[in-house]
Amino acid sequence: MYSEKVMDHFRNPRNVGEIPDADGVGTVGNPVCGDMMTVHIKVKDNRIADIKFKTFGCGAAVATSSMVTELAKGKTLDEAMKITRADVAEHLGGLPPIKMHCSNLAADALHSAIDDYRKKKSK
Ligand code: FES
Repeated sequence: MYSEKVMDHFRNPRNVGEIPDADGVGTVGNPVCGDMMTVHIKVKDNRIADIKFKTFGCGAAVATSSMVTELAKGKTLDEAMKITRADVAEHLGGLPPIKMHCSNLAADALHSAIDDYRKKKSK
């Protein structure tokens, strides 16, 4: 039912945790199931220098969160804003249709952390 990649990221999630002096933080809740995810980012020279996540959610949410942090790390903020839910699912070798909504959290939390950083910077 799950691809090898999904299982790998679920068993060994990358970049789990928080960044105490984060430049941007995004928290989103999934309206479908009530699960939640928080993304912390550290920005340097307009790029995502570091990124960590915490997910209170299902296995697919953990795997997609982990994948999104890998995709975003090192990217410019504009590039990271363009990472879509579909990109995340695709890089994981697909998700079962019933679990596609779980991939929403990861991309949304990333974008919300970038928005937070940009808001703070423009103050
Ligand atoms: Fe909630 Fe997957 S069931 S994120």
